[in-house]
Amino acid sequence: MSDRSEFVVVANRLPVDRVNGEDGAPSWRRSPGGLVTAIAPVMRARDGAWIGWPGAPDEELEPFVEDGMHLVPVGLSALEVERYYEGFSNATLWPLYHDVIAPPVYERKLWDAYVKVNRRFAEKAAEVAAERAVVWVQDYQLQLVPAMLRELRPDLRIGFFLHIPFPPMELFWQLPWRRQIIEGLLGADLVGFQRPGAAANFLRLARRLLDGRTSGQMAFVGDRAVRAAAFPISVDVRELEALIGDPAVRRRAEEIRADLGGAKVLLGVDRLDYTKGIAQRLQAFGELFRDGDLKPGEAVFVQIATPSRERVEQYRLLRDQIEQEVGRINGEYAELGLPVIHYLHTSYTRDELAALYLAADVMVVTPLRDGMNLVAKEYVACRTDHRGALVLSEFAGAADELKRAFLVNPYDINGLKATLLEALRAEPAEQSRRMRPMRRRVIEHDVDRWAREFLTALENPHHPDQPSAR
Ligand code: ADP
Ligand code: G6P
Repeated sequence: MSDRSEFVVVANRLPVDRVNGEDGAPSWRRSPGGLVTAIAPVMRARDGAWIGWPGAPDEELEPFVEDGMHLVPVGLSALEVERYYEGFSNATLWPLYHDVIAPPVYERKLWDAYVKVNRRFAEKAAEVAAERAVVWVQDYQLQLVPAMLRELRPDLRIGFFLHIPFPPMELFWQLPWRRQIIEGLLGADLVGFQRPGAAANFLRLARRLLDGRTSGQMAFVGDRAVRAAAFPISVDVRELEALIGDPAVRRRAEEIRADLGGAKVLLGVDRLDYTKGIAQRLQAFGELFRDGDLKPGEAVFVQIATPSRERVEQYRLLRDQIEQEVGRINGEYAELGLPVIHYLHTSYTRDELAALYLAADVMVVTPLRDGMNLVAKEYVACRTDHRGALVLSEFAGAADELKRAFLVNPYDINGLKATLLEALRAEPAEQSRRMRPMRRRVIEHDVDRWAREFLTALENPHHPDQPSAR
């Protein structure tokens, strides 16, 4: 019993991926995406176990410690990676939950793999969790785990947090397995979402699909009460401030600016994902050169795109589309030695990202739909000088909090062009007037507070601040 954990996080991925170097030697690399960025500092601060997949097929690994975290690997076969991860998680649920920007694939064999792998994660959590432990299940890949785990271990406190949007009933209704997903989530004691609207969507579905009773934030299942509420996720402000306080990072930011020849720097940092609105922002930027509002050498766009889900069809199509668009815009508007877009299809270290945030005059975050978007909050956290401008999509969860950003509808290319120009031309006083309250917000609502609030709500269901169970 002694090696069981009082606090267990269950996520599809471990915070590190196993990669094989050129010499064939295995090593660990930080996994991509906002979930890992947010949960890693929470785990380092608490002595718990993190259950997840090590990112490569057919790896059977023993639990190990990395970067101060106790990690418990769950293996996936190549076929499970294809059907559960690339298939049901990222070709069915991901597009369905993001406004069907791409058409979701509904295939029974993908669903079967999803059920099977969710069961494996639930069994691993049941094995690792101590008596009456707190288990926190993460994200859309594992929505069946709460109910499966409750069946195995009714003694546990089970929380679930969805990092991505939760769709309105009208879209969710398409899913052939809609009832099973809602039942899976209702196995938790607390289901957390990024935005209040998502929690409301979920409660509405619970009512409709299960003929269940709900009242305020509560749904009632048999003799249990399940709470659904919003807990907007955030960033590790202390980590980011330490990074930008490092003289080497500051020198690097200067170097980046010098390399870009003194042009105003616009920056995009995303996983290469069709939800991020990368094509829209590049199109708008390109048109500013066509219209004569910008000249090569005056402004340059640096787009960093981390490779993501590269074997999923829609991601392959997107990569071709973006690379063609970058080529077209540079082909048309660049001059010798003066490209208008720098496109880097790679992932960077935290130091290099911090230097880029410091170097950027305008951070451009234009998702067509995004649960939160941590990049927007990272940029704000890094601008201790209150300089720089954030252009932010109204469709990112972050827009609820970062109200002083230059807000845009990324589908409106003319609006996007006008906003990019406005942000580029904002005077220092205007930049600071906007950045200051946004920074305050992010500092006061950092990732530690997010985790504390979620876990307090999970562990104290009858706390006076919580709505009463009945
Ligand atoms: P998502 O979770 O959909 O990828 P978020 O914006 O919420 O989107 O989180 C992305 C996280 O991944 C951020 O912490 C960001 O710093 C990191 N990230 C994004 N692109 C890169 C990159 N090219 N190199 C390193 N880290 C990246
Ligand atoms: C988003 C999802 C995470 C996921 C991350 C990276 O942040 O919410 O669950 O881990 O993207 O995607 P990947 O498919 O590489 O794990």
